[in-house]
Amino acid sequence: MRGSVATLWDDEGNEYIDCGASFGVGNLGHCHPAVAEAIASQARELIHVGPTFGTPAKAAFTEKLLSVAPRNLRRVFLSNSGSEAVEAAIKFARASTGRTGIVAAMRGFHGRTMGALSATWRREFREPFEPLVPGFTHVPFNDIEALRKAVTPDTAAVILEAVQGEGGVHVASPEYLPAAREICDAAGALLILDEVQTGMGRTGRMFAIERWGVLPDLLTLAKSLAGGVPIGATLATEAVEQGFKGSHNSTFGGNPLACAAGTAALDVTVRERLWERADRLGTWAMDELRALDAPGVREVRGLGLIIGIELRGKAAPVLEALQEEGVIAIGGGSSVVRLLPPLVIPEEQWTRAIEALGRAMRNG
Ligand SMILES: Cc1ncc(COP(=O)(O)O)c(C=O)c1O
Repeated sequence: MRGSVATLWDDEGNEYIDCGASFGVGNLGHCHPAVAEAIASQARELIHVGPTFGTPAKAAFTEKLLSVAPRNLRRVFLSNSGSEAVEAAIKFARASTGRTGIVAAMRGFHGRTMGALSATWRREFREPFEPLVPGFTHVPFNDIEALRKAVTPDTAAVILEAVQGEGGVHVASPEYLPAAREICDAAGALLILDEVQTGMGRTGRMFAIERWGVLPDLLTLAKSLAGGVPIGATLATEAVEQGFKGSHNSTFGGNPLACAAGTAALDVTVRERLWERADRLGTWAMDELRALDAPGVREVRGLGLIIGIELRGKAAPVLEALQEEGVIAIGGGSSVVRLLPPLVIPEEQWTRAIEALGRAMRNG
C-alpha cells in the first residue's frame, strides 16, 4: 500500500480517495514532502534520546506549538498517542487539584488505555475491561444543567470534545463550552479540552475551541500533529504545573523524530492557513449534502472538514458502496458516515467524493 496527498493505492493497484485521512491523522495528506524531508534529515542526526535530554528538535517543536496554542497554555508534555495525551491530562488534573472526580460526556471518546477509556462513553469499548478507573461520571452532552449538577467539590476536571468525533460528529452548542468553563471555575475544577481529532485546522480554526472563545486549563492533541508520525501532546497552564505533585514521563515522548515531523507539519499548516481551506471545503460540502434531501439521511452536521451524515439506517452498507466507488470514509457510531478528508485534498477529488456520497445516499 502507498499514499500521496489524498490518494491511497492498495496492493492490487486500486486507487482510493482517502476521506477518512486514515482516522484523522492525515490533515496534510499522505507523505507530505516537507514532513518526509524533516524525518529523513532528523533520522540522519538523532532518532532517539532519553526524555531527560533536551534536543534542538524538541525545543523547536515546543516553541512552534506554543506559538499557535491558546495563549494561557504555556506548558507542554509530549507523548506518543491521543490516549497517552488524555492519560497525562487526567493525571495532571488529579495531582494538581488533589481531587479525584472526572466528569465526561455521554458519546465522548477519549481513547482506550484504562484512564482514557474510563472517560470514554461507549459500553462495547468499556465493558470487557471493567472495573475501570474509579471516579468517572458521564453526563449528557450539551446539557448545561446536568453538567452543573455533576460537578462537585471533589471534581478534579471536566473533559470534553468541542466536536464529538467518534461519537458521531456532535458539535457543542454555542453556550455549552462557555458554561462548562464557568461551572469549572465556580467549583475550582479544571477544564480539559480533547482536541486529538479536532485540532490542527480540521474544524476551520487552528483549534476548534477558538470558535467558542474559551480557554481550557488542559488541551490534548495527537493524530495529525506530527504529519503522520505517532505523537501526543498535553498542554497545560502554569497554574496546573505549579500545583502538580507527582511524576510523569514517557521514554519516547518528545523524541527528535516526532518533533522534527511535528515542526514541519505545523509550519505547513500555518504557512498555508489550512484551517481556512477546511472551513471553505467543509461548508461547501455540507451545503451540497443537505441540498440532496435524500430520504435515508436524518441529519448532516459538522464543522469545517469533520462532517457526519446521520442515516436512518446503518452506515456500513453506505461505507461499502463508497469504497466500491473508490472513496474511503469512516463510521462514527453505527448510523453515521464520517468524513475527515485531508485538509489539502485537491478540490477535484473532494467534489468527486461528495458526488459519490450523494449517489450512495440516494441509493441507500
Ligand atoms: C477525541 C479523541 N481523543 C483521544 C483519542 C485516542 O487517540 P489514540 O487512538 O491516538 O490513542 C481519539 C482517537 O480517535 C480521539 O478521537
